[in-house]
Amino acid sequence: MTASISVSLLGWYDAHARDLPWRLPPGSARPDDPAWPYRVWLSEVMLQQTTVAAVKPYFAKFTETWPTVEALAAASEDDVMAAWAGLGYYSRARNLVKCARQVAERGGFPTTEAGLRALPGLGDYAAAAIAAIAFGQRAVVVDANVERVVARLFAIDEPLPKARKAIRAATDAITPETRAGDFAQGLMDLGAHICTSRAPRCLLCPLSDACEGRKQGEPERLPVKPAKKVVPERRGTAFWITRDGGRKVWLVTRPASGMLGGMRALPDDGWTARADGSGETPLAGEWRSLGAVRHGFTHASLTLRVVALETSTDPVGDGAWWPADRMEEAGLATLFAKAAQLALAAR
Ligand code: ADE
Repeated sequence: MTASISVSLLGWYDAHARDLPWRLPPGSARPDDPAWPYRVWLSEVMLQQTTVAAVKPYFAKFTETWPTVEALAAASEDDVMAAWAGLGYYSRARNLVKCARQVAERGGFPTTEAGLRALPGLGDYAAAAIAAIAFGQRAVVVDANVERVVARLFAIDEPLPKARKAIRAATDAITPETRAGDFAQGLMDLGAHICTSRAPRCLLCPLSDACEGRKQGEPERLPVKPAKKVVPERRGTAFWITRDGGRKVWLVTRPASGMLGGMRALPDDGWTARADGSGETPLAGEWRSLGAVRHGFTHASLTLRVVALETSTDPVGDGAWWPADRMEEAGLATLFAKAAQLALAAR
């Protein structure tokens, strides 16, 4: 039964695998080229908590700018952070550089799951995915798509996150000794296109005969979600400070630690996930209100007011004037890119 699941899934993957820039066609021999594990690693780090569609242009930009792990290791953290802007979870970008430097230093990626797990920024999921996909090892790879497919296949109806133990054990039981990377990516593709959250397409599913969730009649109920976490509502203010009739905008770099650490940003009033901002403006003058933008973080939802001032004096503190018509090149974190868009639209 468990063997027939992997056979069915791999057969389906052979016929239907998505063609993605970081993938080999199903069943191909792994290339003996150090750029291969680099591409797998980069894609897996980017794909954590981000969709395939959102990752594609970033993957193209990164591999064009830094085609090898040595090239990325030699890049400045600022350049990598700016290139990452918009993908979110910025600590991942900082760990990306750290990891690239360690890997370049040791002369290549470790080839075992345990060795990969010890690198900066690689958790259980990414270490298993890279071991399986880049190095052909048998590893148990569980991401959100796999979690959904397996919870349904075995009708695991404990709520998340408690169900994770049973889901992992069940995934382990169906993972084949060979082609574990294709098997994992087959489950991911199945989860992305067939075994979708709301409307699973069981008639097209290669595993439907074996699926306990389908037999019970309500697969979309699984996995059972935990009660929704309520995150606090925070308020803050961002300052759109311009000179030369709006042609230049004052941008700062956020402190390395804390939310959006190290990212280029608009100056703000010091809001955090734990406290509202002070509302105090950094310069005296006739500030104009431009409205507000909303942004959801893991630990808080933020309403960020945007206020504007035209000035001829430099604000105090670390910052620089940036051309307003080149704002998209500034590498602003998404929240501040939204605020900048609002300000630019108000001109
Ligand atoms: N999500 C995370 N890793 C993936 C991969 N290798 N293919 C498709 N989706 C993914």
